[in-house]
Amino acid sequence: MNILHVVGARPNFMKVAPVMAALDSREACSQRLVHTGQHYDANMSDVFFQQLGLPQPDVSLGVGSGSHAVQTAQIMMRFEEVVEEQRPGLVLVYGDVNSTVAAALVCAKLLIPVGHVEAGLRSYDRTMPEEINRLMTDQTADLLFTPSPDGDANLLREGIAPDAIHHVGNVMIDTLVRLLPQAQLPHIDGLATRYALVTLHRPSNVDDEAMLRRLMTTLQEVSQELQVVFPIHPRTRARLQAFDLAVVDEERFLLLEPLGYLEFLALQRQATLVITDSGGVQEESTYLRVPCLTARENTERPITVDVGTNVLVGQDMERLRAEVDHILAGTFKTGEIPRLWDGRAGERIADVIETWQG
Ligand code: UD1
Ligand code: UDP
Repeated sequence: MNILHVVGARPNFMKVAPVMAALDSREACSQRLVHTGQHYDANMSDVFFQQLGLPQPDVSLGVGSGSHAVQTAQIMMRFEEVVEEQRPGLVLVYGDVNSTVAAALVCAKLLIPVGHVEAGLRSYDRTMPEEINRLMTDQTADLLFTPSPDGDANLLREGIAPDAIHHVGNVMIDTLVRLLPQAQLPHIDGLATRYALVTLHRPSNVDDEAMLRRLMTTLQEVSQELQVVFPIHPRTRARLQAFDLAVVDEERFLLLEPLGYLEFLALQRQATLVITDSGGVQEESTYLRVPCLTARENTERPITVDVGTNVLVGQDMERLRAEVDHILAGTFKTGEIPRLWDGRAGERIADVIETWQG
């Protein structure tokens, strides 16, 4: 079977790598990789191809940034030509970004089967662009690969046929398990032994000036008791500049460029705690058993709260401060690793695809 993988944004790269590796050893499958170009800076794309050992994309659509409609439409228009030409037997899409839904919609109209890796996650918050992407992608997919049982339950509630749903575990954890032994702490000037690792890029946090101001003020306060290390997503950097927000104490609060996967993973493993609004970081910190404070009102990954080390602090900055103090006091509960977050999800996906009668 001729399989086409579609990726475009940073978190897609960690998810496709184990699936490609697993399918590589299956004789009946040939595969090609399409990069939409949703993320294009070297530190948002190339570095992951190198560090994860991904092959160079067979096709680069080069769409770049744009409004939701422009970006999604550009991907659809360019990807349709690729699908028409290659007529794949299956297209695999990953996660919940615009590249995911755009590729899935193209295939649905051309009657090409779609497999969704990381299906079924729901925040039940439709103000989040990713929630729309998840709903639409899952409605058009033929194979739905879920990371956790809540994903299966959500899909069944939405009327997806039970035999299309496969609980395979978490592919992002496959990559983590494989590369953790290689993750070395990078040299960062002034890095303390104890620190809070921060990532923020959700529009609800960073596009709203008052909210970003409150977050930065709170992080500056936190930095006086625990150093803050903040590799900044390009969306967030643009907002900090636009809102003229600067850091006061540069020794206690390190602002960095986005980091490579291995460097970020090493920093995460060593962190005293993580403050984030990232989906992937909620999962990785759960696996690493590092306390995670998620600056969001909801999460599409509730298992990280129920089982893991994740605490939703919402947009309540007093709560954030209190939870930091709680962790520093040493009374934080130790979490568990969810079932099937074991480094073998990619193999389980390949098993399903091999026996699938599309
Ligand atoms: C996208 C995803 C989000 C995911 C995140 C992972 C959607 C709707 N959003 O958000 O779900 O969590 O990626 O990081 O798909 N930019 C650069 N260089 C780049 C890429 C982006 O400078 O290489 C800047 C541009 O100003 C761009 C902005 O970042 O307008 C936002 O990029 P975009 O891909 O639209 O959304 P993200 O916020 O990255
Ligand atoms: N990540 C990284 N460098 C960074 C920040 C994050 O390699 O500077 C990794 C992180 O370890 C995880 C993934 O990027 O594997 C998460 O992507 P992101 O937060 O951009 O997207 P989300 O998961 O929220 O969709």
